[in-house]
Amino acid sequence: MDTQALKGSWQLVAQSGDQVPLFFYSALFLMYPETRGLFPASMATQRDRLVNALGHVVSNVDRVNELVPFLQQLGRDHRKFSVVAQHYPAVGQALLATLEHFLGDRWSPALARDWTAAYGLVAQVMTDAAEESSATTPPWWEGEIILHEARAPGIAVVRARLNYQYPFQAGQSASISVALRPKLWRFYSFANAPRRDNTIDLHVRVVDGGAVSTALVHGAQRGDILKIGAPVGDRLTLGPDAARELLLVAGGTGLGPLKALVEQVAYEGPPRAVRLFVGARTSRELYDLEALSKLEAENPWLSVVPVVSRDAFYRGEHGYVVDVALKAWRDQDVFVCGSEEMVQGSVARLLDAGVPSEQIRFDEFTAAGGRES
Ligand SMILES: Cc1cc2nc3c(=O)[nH]c(=O)nc-3n(C[C@H](O)[C@H](O)[C@H](O)COP(=O)(O)OP(=O)(O)OC[C@H]3O[C@@H](n4cnc5c(N)ncnc54)[C@H](O)[C@@H]3O)c2cc1C
Ligand code: HEM
Repeated sequence: MDTQALKGSWQLVAQSGDQVPLFFYSALFLMYPETRGLFPASMATQRDRLVNALGHVVSNVDRVNELVPFLQQLGRDHRKFSVVAQHYPAVGQALLATLEHFLGDRWSPALARDWTAAYGLVAQVMTDAAEESSATTPPWWEGEIILHEARAPGIAVVRARLNYQYPFQAGQSASISVALRPKLWRFYSFANAPRRDNTIDLHVRVVDGGAVSTALVHGAQRGDILKIGAPVGDRLTLGPDAARELLLVAGGTGLGPLKALVEQVAYEGPPRAVRLFVGARTSRELYDLEALSKLEAENPWLSVVPVVSRDAFYRGEHGYVVDVALKAWRDQDVFVCGSEEMVQGSVARLLDAGVPSEQIRFDEFTAAGGRES
């Protein structure tokens, strides 16, 4: 297989930008109309992830060994889109038709053969992983919303009870879909450590014009059903041996997974000092103070410090949450979570201030949730 030719041809195709997914989906839905129902009703936004991944992954087939864990996860995850093994040849054919269209004269039987073989390999890894996991894991869990609290403008705390046991770790997230916006999946972090009653909490903030966040905050109500994919992520998880003191720096709903870590220490130990700094723009956006004060009162090792950046009348700590947190840094491990901007700015400040990079853990609430290679 000529992998240089695969990469080179994909680079050429990718130069056509948005035209590529447009052509790909037209080809797929024309040739295989039965696949249309797997995709969201509106194909207007963010529809390039599948096509980009196809081109990227398939043309990097020479690194297939390195990509195996990612592809296995992707294959298992595709079960939540109701994708089955029989759909893979359809996508392979639409991919080939797309390459042929954009490459024109440069398309050749040799390229067609190599792309077919490479796609076959990638598809095999994904379908094998999907089949293997079907025996033990459902394609998604269902969670009935049992509590929906509007806590601040544009912020809600949602509690759902899952239908089957859901093994996850504090600090993880999952891809979630809400009945009001079917077939749209977005990542949300669990704001609690696992509980015996199989409930999970989500802290959700509306993103301007956002489909799923708006539905979760303003549309969803008690009794609605969420679909919840398998738990993912190890950026913020605490191993059982991690025993250092913790400095937790939260921006907005980035508080969720950090609160889950506090609960983990409370439930499982080992005991250690934990300082949680909770950042918000205004005091009205400090949406979880009551629950945090209760946690603080119950656990003498915990201190919670709210920090507000844009509210002249606020009486507590002012400024950027990372700057206030840094004053309390005494060699603890530091965990940061929030928007992309907040996390990148905070990590840069921590490094500048001399916090060793191996003691900084962070995760960002980005739009593109996929953890591609
Ligand atoms: C690992 C992970 C965990 C997450 N956990 C949480 C959580 O616990 N709570 C929470 O409130 N959110 C969380 N998010 C963000 C969440 O996944 C969605 O991105 C967010 O809710 C917006 O989705 P939407 O469908 O409403 O917006 P979309 O309809 O997808 O997008 C609408 C517009 O907003 C932009 N946009 C989308 N998402 C963001 C974003 N996150 N930041 C800035 N602009 C954006 C888009 O580019 C688009 O222009 C997490 C993201 C990741 C990757
Ligand atoms: C080599 C094969 C494939 C690769 C590399 C691939 C890759 C991807 C990636 C990276 C995403 C985005 C993931 C996310 O947003 O969570 C995605 C989404 C999706 N894929 Fe695939 N995929 C493949 C095959 C297929 C097949 C065979 C189907 C079935 C027709 C399919 C249907 C979907 C659907 C329905 C989505 C959600 C799309 C959306 O919300 O816009 N994929 N794929």
